[in-house]
Amino acid sequence: MPRVSVRRLFVYAIYTVVVTSLVMLAFHVQQQNPLWLRVLEQSSGSGGYYQQNSKEIEDEAPAHFVVVNNDEKTSVDNVTTANINPLRSHGLPWYIKNDGYRPSQGDVVDNIWPDGRLNGDRIEQQLMVPTRDADGISGEGSSLLAGVVKPLKKIFLPNGLGSWQTKSGQKVFTDQKCPVDRCSLTSNREEAANADAIMFKDFFATPSHQRPPHQIWIMYMLECPLHTQYIREKDVFNWTATYKSDSELVTPYEKWVYYDVKVRRKPVTTNFAANKTKQVAWFVSNCGAKNNRLEYAHSLQKYIDVDIYGSCGTKNCPRHSGDHCLDILSTDYKFYLAFENSNCRDYITEKFYVNGLGSKVLPIVMGAPRKDYEKHAPEHSFIHVDDFASPKELADYLHRLDSNDSLYNEYFEWKETGQFINTYFFCRLCAMLHEAPYSPARSYEDFNEWWRGGTNCIKGSWRDLEIHRRKKKKKIMELTQATS
Ligand SMILES: *[C@@H]1O[C@H](CO)[C@@H](O)[C@H](O)[C@H]1NC(C)=O
Ligand SMILES: *[C@@H]1O[C@H](CO)[C@@H](O)[C@H](O)[C@H]1NC(C)=O
Ligand SMILES: *[C@@H]1O[C@H](CO)[C@@H](O)[C@H](O)[C@H]1NC(C)=O
Ligand SMILES: *[C@@H]1O[C@H](CO)[C@@H](O)[C@H](O)[C@H]1NC(C)=O
Repeated sequence: MPRVSVRRLFVYAIYTVVVTSLVMLAFHVQQQNPLWLRVLEQSSGSGGYYQQNSKEIEDEAPAHFVVVNNDEKTSVDNVTTANINPLRSHGLPWYIKNDGYRPSQGDVVDNIWPDGRLNGDRIEQQLMVPTRDADGISGEGSSLLAGVVKPLKKIFLPNGLGSWQTKSGQKVFTDQKCPVDRCSLTSNREEAANADAIMFKDFFATPSHQRPPHQIWIMYMLECPLHTQYIREKDVFNWTATYKSDSELVTPYEKWVYYDVKVRRKPVTTNFAANKTKQVAWFVSNCGAKNNRLEYAHSLQKYIDVDIYGSCGTKNCPRHSGDHCLDILSTDYKFYLAFENSNCRDYITEKFYVNGLGSKVLPIVMGAPRKDYEKHAPEHSFIHVDDFASPKELADYLHRLDSNDSLYNEYFEWKETGQFINTYFFCRLCAMLHEAPYSPARSYEDFNEWWRGGTNCIKGSWRDLEIHRRKKKKKIMELTQATS
């Protein structure tokens, strides 16, 4: 046996501990990977909280239903058209065009708070809130009222500034030229007690200070319920900042806006089918997603060519050539599977926005219900798997598009009608903090129920859920008829 010194053994032990910790840390970071990391899907999912929560979700759905009412589409459209248009009467706003219109004195902006009905994501309205003066009357430049500077709203970030990639103080608000910029950020714990707001990011632990009644607690979460902390505390948050449309501050992965809400399609001038020789592509590396997307793709493969890139398939696109991967979608492929790893309401990520809509390819989506894609995506820009009873029916339709360029090109008529905007999260946060005193107090009695209760996330397809719901309704009607 070779001689091994105690000292060397000790060094090995330390080495092992360090390497293990690094691997675990890397995995943890992977779980909360920021936007830019996820452009091509890395192995998100299947760790940590997932196991614990998927069980509960399985048990819950489809037990009680809060489902889809067919009038919803029109009411969303009405809100969008009615409430954004008045702001647009001054031309394109600042968040669409650099020198565009900025909110000023006398501008009245309604519909900035979620109100229980479907009133849209209110992002554009929040970006047009003007500064209020000390009397609560809104107007530009009124923060300097008779030489009195409106006090800054102090926002404490208990999880540190690092994960926000920003500096402390007022800088982020002034740098972004926010219409309402009288806010400042701090990560100094000693300021927690006198902050106007506390914003928790992805992780919540009850702060130790006595909570002042006016202090607004905000929960910010980027991931979907299957990959976020399970929060049991009741009555702690006043606002949320998530991708869900009824958050006070909606933080979608991307936000599409039309230049003119009445012009949603323009004839295409290039042929998006030209020179393409391949049919369906998919980039994927998490093979175990609970919505059975991989099984669906495998079924689809029986009826149409589906090239699966990454560890769940047979094709490889080297990670370091990420851009090239996306390029082949535009040049070679007609269709792209923008399949999310979870079927959750409103949960639509870069898989759709960047890989799909960002390329010259037609995305086929699975994830949120169809009506959510309709709310968030440009008109006629995608195909939803739930439109078809089976993978075979979908494949039949894809073959039809594949052989008819003009039918295929109709899916690109949205391209010139608007753009994806920066939603200036910190600007909206600041504007809303200054609005808060003029609105009723808000709080989440049961955050957990709001976030992951009911059918927020389901394991099967929305289509099956709807069919199940209809059957149940029919049965109840039959029963009532039989008994009456
Ligand atoms: C939405 O607009 C349509 C057409 O303008 C109208 O017929 C409908 O009543 C409106 N719905 C609501 C809920 O306001
Ligand atoms: C298709 O290929 C031809 C010939 O190589 C080229 O001139 C044309 O620009 C290509 N079209 C598109 C849309 O890429
Ligand atoms: C192709 O699609 C267009 C609609 O864009 C339709 O008018 C036309 O009849 C289709 N052509 C064939 C050969 O099916
Ligand atoms: C914040 O939430 C707490 C706890 O529910 C509540 O007592 C308080 O009134 C809320 N404050 C505001 C400003 O909404």
